[in-house]
Amino acid sequence: MEDDVTLLDRLGGEETVARLVDKFYDRVVRDESLAPLFAASDIREVKRKQTLFLTQFLGGPPRYSEEFGHPMLRYRHLPFPITPARAEAWLACMAGAMDDIGLQGPAREFVYGRLTQVAHHMVNTQEDDSPLDR
Ligand code: HEM
Repeated sequence: MEDDVTLLDRLGGEETVARLVDKFYDRVVRDESLAPLFAASDIREVKRKQTLFLTQFLGGPPRYSEEFGHPMLRYRHLPFPITPARAEAWLACMAGAMDDIGLQGPAREFVYGRLTQVAHHMVNTQEDDSPLDR
């Protein structure tokens, strides 16, 4: 039935999400404004968590919450100074990763729009306040 088709299905399922996340963090760690935030991270674990989260976010099984509880994403990002410029850099990495895996069309546009809202919601620091910018 049409109504049962999730965004996850429209994007190509969990395997597509895993490929997208892989390309995304390959870009994040090469982005000069984002890389310092991930300097101490185990990037394989970050990729794994993001794959679980996006699977759930796109209407698939609640894999992130099963393992880590309520996402509380803004709260979990508070230790990191997320400026408007970093939100834009995050989104640019995501658009690049979507290009990398050849994701095009209405499903891409819709998901990108949702991620844009979440990314802007993560902003917790204005440009001038970020110690990493000094
Ligand atoms: C706006 C710019 C963003 C920046 C700079 C950013 C940065 C980060 C950083 C530094 C971490 C911690 C990595 C670690 O655990 O070592 C993290 C974790 C995470 N981020 Fe973001 N993020 C952003 C936006 C987003 C958005 C839009 C989403 C979801 C759509 C997201 C989902 C996650 C998830 C699921 C985690 C793992 C949380 C956990 O520890 O369980 N982030 N992010």
